This record gives sequence, structure tokens and C-alpha cells, in this order.
Amino acid sequence: MSATSHPSGLTPTQIEDLQQRALAVAQQAYAPYSGFRVGAALLLEDDTIVTGCNVENASYRLTTCAEQSAIASAVGMYGPHIRIRAISIANLSNAASQPCGACRQSIHEFSTPDTRIFFPAEDGTVAEATIADLLPAAFLLNK
Ligand code: THU
Repeated sequence: MSATSHPSGLTPTQIEDLQQRALAVAQQAYAPYSGFRVGAALLLEDDTIVTGCNVENASYRLTTCAEQSAIASAVGMYGPHIRIRAISIANLSNAASQPCGACRQSIHEFSTPDTRIFFPAEDGTVAEATIADLLPAAFLLNK
């Protein structure tokens, strides 16, 4: 693959860096209940990377997923106009894991049709999808 041959314009180095950042931040996860430590790394349009991990709670449903944690940090740091160029999700269990339904809706909010989502696939490789692949019928607020 040449340096810019990826359809999204991402270089293999950028994708690898994002994956490493997702894996690294998964070490920070607070996951005493599930033991499933997840990290997410966002590549924003200006090539800034923002990361987040899952944060669980004794009241289980209050858990924040890694993807949502990263998105909340990015908005807090850079404001409401952020756009996600790519997001990589990793876990420390070496498990195949797609973003949950709620996270798909959260990613959709700050995505474009070109946003690339990378996550661990069943065969041990990294799968790639667009938000339209993962959430073809997102909720839209039409009032
Ligand atoms: N989790 C994430 O962080 N992201 C997802 O997309 C799916 C699930 C977390 C939530 C919980 O702390 C643990 O994984 C087990 O469900």
C-alpha cells in the first residue's frame, strides 16, 4: 500500500498510530465489574488525536463506553464543531468487538460519510467500516 492509497486518505502510519493510542488508553480503563478494558482513539479533522476509555459504575447502567468517553473529551477540548476523521477501538482481551449500538449513534453525531471506524474483527485482524455500514438508520431529531 502506498502512503496515501487508503480511500479515506489516511496513511497506514496514521491508522497504526491510532490503533496504538486506543490500545494504550485501554490500560486506563475503570472496568472492575466486566474486566473488559476498552480504549478509543479519535483522529479529528486537523489530525489531533483524542482518546478515552470505558468507565464503569457499581450501578452498571451508568457505565460510559470508551467511544463516548473519547467523544466527550474531544468536545470538551475542542468544542462542538469537531468532526471525527477516524476512530479506532481496542480492548485488552484480544476479543472481537464492534462498537455497541449506543456508541454507533454517538459516533454518528460527529461523523461524515468518510469517517472510518476500526475495530477488532473475529479473525484477529482489524475491521474497517463507515458509520453508514454500522448504523444505516441513525436517529435524527426532526421536530
Ligand atoms: N464497552 C465499550 O467501552 N464500548 C463498546 O462499544 C461496547 C462496550 C464497555 C462497556 C463496559 O464497561 C464493558 O465494555 C463491557 O460491556
